[in-house]
Amino acid sequence: MSNNILSGKTGIIFGALDEKSIAWKVALKAHEEGAKFILTNTALALRLGSLNKLAEETSSKIVPADVTVVVELENLFTAAKEEFGKVDFVLHSVGMSMNIRKNNPFTALNYDFMMKTLDISAVSLHKVLQTALKLDAIAQGGSVVALTYIAAQKVFPDYSEMSQAKALLESIVRSFGYHYGTTKGVRINSVSQSPTVTTAGSGVSGFDAFIDYAEKMSPLGNATAEDCANYCISLFSDYTKMVTMQNLYHDGGFSMMGVSEQVMQKFGTQV
Ligand code: NAI
Repeated sequence: MSNNILSGKTGIIFGALDEKSIAWKVALKAHEEGAKFILTNTALALRLGSLNKLAEETSSKIVPADVTVVVELENLFTAAKEEFGKVDFVLHSVGMSMNIRKNNPFTALNYDFMMKTLDISAVSLHKVLQTALKLDAIAQGGSVVALTYIAAQKVFPDYSEMSQAKALLESIVRSFGYHYGTTKGVRINSVSQSPTVTTAGSGVSGFDAFIDYAEKMSPLGNATAEDCANYCISLFSDYTKMVTMQNLYHDGGFSMMGVSEQVMQKFGTQV
């Protein structure tokens, strides 16, 4: 059901790879709600994934960009300006850990890989924002949303160096939120999402068991990618125009829990 709450709005969506991607669901929902946008991902992801299908479904252009390469971001924002003028929203739904991919434990990280992880998963948000500010590419009242995970605040051993990446990402949200807010009235928030079955999510070892644990810990259960998309849409809309610099938990209540009855029952204990 559409309420057209993004009617007349334009944007850029980073990170749709395949139908499981959170960004994919956001794009479908944004289209349904009346937005127009450009889809972007790396040239490699465009070859491996199925972004053309999404572009057709949403009548969107694809502009390739590696989110770590500033000149490619400049091309992207320039293309968006030519297409739409200033955009109203940007979704940063990008993450990748080289050490997790290579199964390197947290206590034996390869530091070149770690720097790459931090660049792709966190510093890239700064690059996106700095480029957009330089080109004055986001409209007054515009909204930027980055996806994050609670491992920035609490220890989840298998999330490894991505915990540091997410902590840095959230810090950039706050600091840039100040600067972009005061100069151009643009707001920036992160959404801390439940574990979700996607290509990036499933790369974390023990992911299936972990999803089950999070489901049992969360009073509302895990938030799905579709739920996350709905939340992002609300953040792109004018209904949340005074929300900025926040890390917003979208996790069915997981972040507030100590323990749940369902989890204690696994240990044969009543609470
Ligand atoms: P996904 O694998 O579908 O999306 C990750 C995207 O990052 C892919 O489209 C990939 O091509 C893109 N990417 C990687 N390197 C890039 C680069 N150099 N330049 C541009 N794009 C690049 O997985 P998912 O789960 O949809 O991930 C989206 C975001 O949600 C990530 O930030 C992730 O950390 C976050 N998140 C995911 C959760 C999960 O359990 N799946 C939970 C909480 C947050």
